[in-house]
Amino acid sequence: MEVKNVKGTKDVYGKEVNGFQYVESVMRAVSELYGFEELRTPVIEHSEVFVRGVGEGSDVVRKEMYTFLDKGGRSLTMRPEFTAGIIRSIVQNKFYATRDLPLKFYYSGPVFRYERPQLGRYRQFNQFGVELVGQNSAQTDAEIIILGYMILKTLGFENLTLKINTLGDDSSRDEYKHALKDFFSQHIDNMCSDCKSRFELNPLRILDCKVPEDKEIVKHAPKINEYLSEEARNRFEYVCSILEYMEIPFEVDDTLVRGLDYYSETVFEFHYTSSKGQNYGAIGAGGHYDKLVKEFGGPDLHGVGFSFGIERVVSVMTDDELLQDDANPLINYIIPISEDQHIPALALATALRVEGFKTEICYDGTKLGTMVKKAVKKNAKFALIIGEDEVENNAVVIKTLETGEQETVEFKDIIDYIDTKLGNDEHHCECGCCDDEEHHEDHCCCGRHKKEN
Ligand code: HAM
Repeated sequence: MEVKNVKGTKDVYGKEVNGFQYVESVMRAVSELYGFEELRTPVIEHSEVFVRGVGEGSDVVRKEMYTFLDKGGRSLTMRPEFTAGIIRSIVQNKFYATRDLPLKFYYSGPVFRYERPQLGRYRQFNQFGVELVGQNSAQTDAEIIILGYMILKTLGFENLTLKINTLGDDSSRDEYKHALKDFFSQHIDNMCSDCKSRFELNPLRILDCKVPEDKEIVKHAPKINEYLSEEARNRFEYVCSILEYMEIPFEVDDTLVRGLDYYSETVFEFHYTSSKGQNYGAIGAGGHYDKLVKEFGGPDLHGVGFSFGIERVVSVMTDDELLQDDANPLINYIIPISEDQHIPALALATALRVEGFKTEICYDGTKLGTMVKKAVKKNAKFALIIGEDEVENNAVVIKTLETGEQETVEFKDIIDYIDTKLGNDEHHCECGCCDDEEHHEDHCCCGRHKKEN
């Protein structure tokens, strides 16, 4: 029987895996510039972490969790998101007592949701995100949004749509929920079954319904704006004014409520439609939360964070050709003519790899022409051919595959030869400190470039 992957999961390989690595490395590097450090939490948690953290009213907890009993009869869940697990870890490790506040963590890895698979929606997907915990201010809400925006800009995204909204503080939200209940009580009988349970559990979530007929009703629902306390309104206006000052374009979307129950005050989503017109849904989203830390038995600390969906980010970047074809191309393909040269080939490959050159060896032992063709197919820069004579003379034939030019080079000169061919020996000093040739011969002031020997 042919065994296939589980529905809603996928194998990631080739260009896509390069895309994943690149995207994650940029996200990591930019987050570190903002003072975030990595926190790795387990994939499995006690189910309670998400039931309490994400909230019983959310679709994620009601319908989408991969929950099972382990052999000891414990109810465990494969994380459907990171935030609740991160907060569980912060409280369990008492980071708030041993480190300066705010705590700033980033994370990445797979998450699991039993959703209906479709374009940009998987059952196992990857998130990268950040959480800032222990400071409650409009400034930190704004800074987190700016970090998300800067990550996407660094990846090359133009024409992003940043949607933001406020869910207000507790009192604003309570009043608003009452108003929504009043309004939807006249329509709920004709709305979808999800909305019927949302009506009982959290009427705010009805605003997020995707059923076209329900969306029509939602259009006429009261707006949060009318129920905000003065404090909540001022805070939101402050967040918006910071974004304006930073010239970050955004739209206020008063139907944006987010699918997880822990949010209060600022919420936001990043959207992007690729040039192919494909809309993969939000590529990242987040917001402020005020009760999660307490929910796990910690002190009264607020937090704010976001998560990106890596699959969605990579898909839009692929559509819009924002990913390099091969970020790490093959430099050397070593061709030993016969088995007798396999060991010298391996020694040479090791020396080249130590110098940082991506190098492979061809052990096929077929016709030379066939092996050179393989080097071309692999897009290598050079084919390094070693036969009996070459080993005897401590040399190798280097063929530059783009031009067909070929030369015999002694072992001791190979690294310099390749460096010269690749243009690696041209020292360009970005800061200009080495423009003066004499000066350059001694050292490089900026320390970023190789010293001349
Ligand atoms: P979320 O909106 O549920 O938020 O997910 C964040 C991102 O994960 C989405 O914007 C989307 O890009 C991606 N995503 C969600 N579901 C899927 C899916 N089934 N397939 C592929 N990608 C998906 C959270 O998870 C919150 N923890 C974000 C947060 C962090 N809020 C505060 N801190």
